[in-house]
Amino acid sequence: MKAVLVLLVSTAWVFTGAQYYYQGLMDYLENRLLTIEDRMQFWHEQSHRYHTELQDFKKLTAEAMVVLKNEHGMLIRDLEGAAVRMDRVEREIDYVETHSSPRACANKADKVVEQGSVVIFFLYFLFSLTSDCVEIISGIRSVKILKRVGSPKGMWTRDPRSSKVYVFNGTTGDRIYQFNSVRDFSHSPGVTSSTQIKVPSEWSGPGSAVYNGYLYYIKQEFGTDVQVVKYDLLSGTVIDTAMFPVDNHAAVYNLNPETVADLAADDEGLWLLYATGDSEPNISLAKMDPATLDIEQIWDTRCPRENAEAAFVVCGTVYVVYNTRLASRSRVQCIFDVNDAMINEEAPLLYFPRRYGAHASLKYNPEEKQLYGWDDGYQIIYRVTMKRKLLV
Ligand SMILES: *[C@@H]1O[C@H](CO)[C@@H](O)[C@H](O)[C@H]1NC(C)=O
Ligand SMILES: *[C@@H]1O[C@H](CO)[C@@H](O)[C@H](O)[C@H]1NC(C)=O
Repeated sequence: MKAVLVLLVSTAWVFTGAQYYYQGLMDYLENRLLTIEDRMQFWHEQSHRYHTELQDFKKLTAEAMVVLKNEHGMLIRDLEGAAVRMDRVEREIDYVETHSSPRACANKADKVVEQGSVVIFFLYFLFSLTSDCVEIISGIRSVKILKRVGSPKGMWTRDPRSSKVYVFNGTTGDRIYQFNSVRDFSHSPGVTSSTQIKVPSEWSGPGSAVYNGYLYYIKQEFGTDVQVVKYDLLSGTVIDTAMFPVDNHAAVYNLNPETVADLAADDEGLWLLYATGDSEPNISLAKMDPATLDIEQIWDTRCPRENAEAAFVVCGTVYVVYNTRLASRSRVQCIFDVNDAMINEEAPLLYFPRRYGAHASLKYNPEEKQLYGWDDGYQIIYRVTMKRKLLV
């Protein structure tokens, strides 16, 4: 009789211990959900800040996922242990023919696991919704040399939305050549089959961007501040202009001093790579609102300007391309992720296909996952391979 009592007490202890643990876990999960609900409410009110908030949430859920995964693993291990103990207790209880109801406890515990899984699934679901852009470049796969028009320096790009191709010959000018497609451009003798567009002020350096029918270019008249101009290619009008307050006219890439500042446009917004001054060794990054040209955020990429020849932005990550003064093999040797989501070990050292040249510009096209390069007057397309960032 005494043995049975001891057994019952210890059984009860095991079950209350487990229950206490599961209750704690449930509370934790509930709190997590409440936090997330609060956050969702917050976004609703801040819908104009929608995108930035999503990025924050992505980090939060990534962290929550890690915690939950650990909790889930611990819970499974605990449950396995509890199941073994329960089996033993059941057999002993059967033996003394006492009717306690250990099964009810077991069912309850199972339910907690189920609910836990639902929460984890829910977070997974939310997470997959918010991580619309979580790719990094894993390699530069191939190169296609398309054409050679114009002078050694220049840039060309393709509007991801309209598929039109834009050629900026040289390092400054007020003219742009527009082609209906890459095919039209490659079949054109020189630039004869293009539409010439004359912009109202000169563009400075091969750092322009074209997105969704708008041209964004750098304007820098002698002795004035750097300006970003937004130009509607269809109507031929300047939509907006914004000053860029940089002290000095320091070039952003040390190997291409003509690049005053470098613009990149994608689904996430408008990015500007620039140097704050001659004494600043690192490249700075600004995120701008493509509609209003307002500066939303500024970062120091910690990527040196020294020996940099170009850079491009993919999914909120800046890839800086380095070379040597005597042109050799270009390589991505510094990356900067604005979301801080990149794990350092993932950062790739990417070599461009063996071709001893120097890029005057590199423009990334997110739609095709291609880089449009200008190398000594050659127009080149690089195809890149992508992989997911190791977030979870
Ligand atoms: C490109 O610019 C160079 C001068 O920078 C000029 O000599 C050449 O004719 C231009 N080519 C085209 C196709 O506009
Ligand atoms: C530039 O970046 C390097 C890391 O690459 C960092 O150690 C250094 O402090 C940065 N310099 C400035 C002035 O921010």
